[in-house]
This record gives sequence, C-alpha cells and structure tokens, in this order.
Amino acid sequence: MFSQRMAKNATRLVDRKRLKGVDIPLRYRIDMLLLKPPGAAGATYHQDASEHGSDRVGELQFWLALAEVTAEMSAMRFVNHSHREGPLGSVFNDDKGDLLEQFPMLTSELGLSAPFHYQPGDCTVHHGYTVHGGPENTTDKARWSYLFSYSPVDTRYWNGSTRNWGSERKRLGDRDNPIVHLQDTEKA
Ligand SMILES: [Fe+2]
Repeated sequence: MFSQRMAKNATRLVDRKRLKGVDIPLRYRIDMLLLKPPGAAGATYHQDASEHGSDRVGELQFWLALAEVTAEMSAMRFVNHSHREGPLGSVFNDDKGDLLEQFPMLTSELGLSAPFHYQPGDCTVHHGYTVHGGPENTTDKARWSYLFSYSPVDTRYWNGSTRNWGSERKRLGDRDNPIVHLQDTEKA
C-alpha cells in the first residue's frame, strides 16, 4: 500500500485535477484484515465516505481477497456508476435502512453488479461514494480479506480513527430546525 507504483495508480483513479485544477496527493488512511466467519451477517448497502464523514471526494477503498471468495461468501456487489450520485447519507446506526431501500432507482436505473468471485490476490477498488453491500456468508468457509484505503492529503476532520464518523451524526429535529417547505406531492 505504500509503494510508489500503488500510490501513483491510486492517485490517477481519483483524478482530482478535474475538480480543482491542482494535483493533490493521497494519504494512507487505514488498513485492516477482515474476517467474516461462516454465517456472518451481510453488509447494508452504503457509501464508505458517507459512513466515515470525510469532508470531500477522493477516498478510495481497495479490497483484496486473501482466500477464494465465492458469491455465497458475502461477496460484495456494487451499484454501477453510483459514485456520480455524490453523498447519499450515512446508514449505519440508523433506522432508515440501507441505500437500496431509500433510493429504489439505484437498482432500477443504475443496476447492481453481479457478485464478484475472487481468487486469492484478486482485488477490487471502489470510490468512496460507490454504493456497495453484500449478503451474509452462507457457506462453511471464512471470508478473509485485506482492506486498505487512501484519502486526499488535505482531508479534514477525520483521521480514520477519531470518533467523528458520519454514521454517528444525528438528524436535525423539527423543534430546533423546522422544515420550511414541504414538497407539493400533487405537482411532483
Ligand atoms: Fe464499505
């Protein structure tokens, strides 16, 4: 994850020049070994950058299989082109449920990728706003993976471990922050 080659390729994927006209390098964010034992729960469909509370685009997540991962082993699925939708909100620690339920057009208009079948060493990379999730691990094998990620060097308010993640934020309430305009459903 610290090699020049990997850093250069990851920076090209972000393409932040398009946004600001300047070249902003990436910073190592976090890496971890992930184990999903047999029967482990699936992942609610979410966007990583929204969960983390990153204050800008540019976060990248690499997910590398350490052992074969079949579709039944909680293999991730991605909503095609969903990173272009921008932040859709954090869903962890939330009674509103996952993004596919909140935004049905993610599936009907953009479509879900097939579950990926990884061989050891296979790796996917997804944008911080790519909507993704997966089913529970219904096999008798553990899912082993190695996750590492990068974030733009100037990302603020969060270093990957501080307790200020997006999913820990609370909604504004009607008492202190009343709604000023309700959608006119007849015209909508
Ligand atoms: Fe994720």
